[in-house]
Amino acid sequence: MKDMGNADNSIVPSNIENNTDNTGGAEASVSEDPVILELKHVCKTFKGGKKSTETKAVQDVSLVVRQGKSIGVVGESGCGKSTIARMITQFTPTSSGQILLDGQDITNIGPSGAKEIYRKVQMVFQDPYSVFSPRMQVGTFLEEGLLHFGIMSHAEAAKEAVALMEQVELSPDLLTRFPHQLSGGQQQRVAIARAISIKPKLLILDEATSALDVSVQKQVLKLLVKLQKRNNLSYLFIGHDLAVIRSITDQVIVMYAGRLMEEIDSEELDYHACHPYTQRLLGSVFSIHDRDVKEIELEYLGMEDDRESKGCVFCNRCPYAMDICSKEAPVMRTLHDNHRIACHLKDF
Ligand SMILES: Nc1ncnc2c1ncn2[C@@H]1O[C@H](COP(=O)(O)OP(=O)(O)O)[C@@H](O)[C@H]1O
Ligand code: SF4
Ligand SMILES: [Mg+2]
Repeated sequence: MKDMGNADNSIVPSNIENNTDNTGGAEASVSEDPVILELKHVCKTFKGGKKSTETKAVQDVSLVVRQGKSIGVVGESGCGKSTIARMITQFTPTSSGQILLDGQDITNIGPSGAKEIYRKVQMVFQDPYSVFSPRMQVGTFLEEGLLHFGIMSHAEAAKEAVALMEQVELSPDLLTRFPHQLSGGQQQRVAIARAISIKPKLLILDEATSALDVSVQKQVLKLLVKLQKRNNLSYLFIGHDLAVIRSITDQVIVMYAGRLMEEIDSEELDYHACHPYTQRLLGSVFSIHDRDVKEIELEYLGMEDDRESKGCVFCNRCPYAMDICSKEAPVMRTLHDNHRIACHLKDF
C-alpha cells in the first residue's frame, strides 16, 4: 500500500506533445492484463422531476478496468460517480454508449441478465448496514449469497462462511452476531466478505471507506489491498477523497459535473496531474488532516459547475478560462502513455 502523505501543489508539467484523442477516455491500455470492464462514451441523462428538468449526470465517460488492477474515480458529490456504478449494475438504464463486461455487451441488459452480472461484479457501499437484514445473523448473511447463486450446499456454505471471516480478518465467533452488534468497521468487513464470497472478478467500492474513522479506514484499505492480491480482483474504487483513492489505486480518473477531466497513473498524480480542476482537488488534499476545511473547499467547488455549458463544464470556476472554453467542450487527448486530459490549454 502506498504512502498517504500530502500532495505537492506546485505542479510543473513537462512539455509533452499533444495528441487529440476523441475516444473520450481510456481506450489505450494501461498494461496487457485482460480487460474486465470497459465503458465506451457512456452517458446518463435523468429526465423528469417536478420541474421537468434534465440532469446530465454522466457525459461521454470511457474507462477501462483490467484484471487485478484498481481504478479510482474521484470527484466531489454530484459529479456522477454513483450513477456510473448504477449503470454497470443495471440499477439505472444507460442513456447512450456501451458497457462491456468480460467482453460481453451488458448495456441495459436489465433484470433478466443481472444475475449473471452479479456473479462477476459485486458492490460495496458506504453504509454496510443498508445491505444487511437486521434480523439475520452474520453467518446466515454470508451463506445466503453462496446459496442464492447455487454455488454450494448448506453445509459447504457454513464452512465457507468461517473461511470468509478469516479472509476479512474477523473472528468466526462473530458469525452468530446480528449486524447491530458489530462496529462500523466490522460491518464493512462482513459486507466485503459477502461481496467476495461468490468470487467476482470486479468489486465496485462506492465510498466504501468514507464513513469510517481514519484509523479504521486505513485498516480496511490495507485489507482491500491484501484481498485484491490474493484473489486477483479488479477494483473500481469510487470516492471523493483524492488522498484515499490515490493510496490504493493504479490509475485515477478525475470527474467534474458528469465529465472526465483527467486520467493519470496514481503514482504520477502528485507531480504530473495538470488539469486545472485536478490541481484544485490536489490543493484541497493539503487539508486532509483537517476534514472540516476540506469539506468546505469541495462544497465551494461544487456550487458553480456548469454542466449545461456547451463548452467546458469547469469554465465558471477555472482561473485559466479562455474564450474558446465557454464555446467548445474540450475533447479528451493523450499527453503521455496513461495520461489524458480534457482541457483547451496547450502548454502542458
Ligand atoms: N434518480 C435520479 N433522478 C434524477 N437525478 C439524479 C438521480 N440520481 C442522481 N441524480 C443526479 O445526477 C447527478 C450525479 O449523481 P451521483 O451519480 O449520485 O453523484 P455522486 O455519486 O458523484 O455524488 C447529481 O446531480 C444527482 O442529483
Ligand atoms: S478547458 Fe478551459 S475552462 Fe476548462 S479546464 Fe481547461 S482552461 Fe479551464
Ligand atoms: Mg455517490
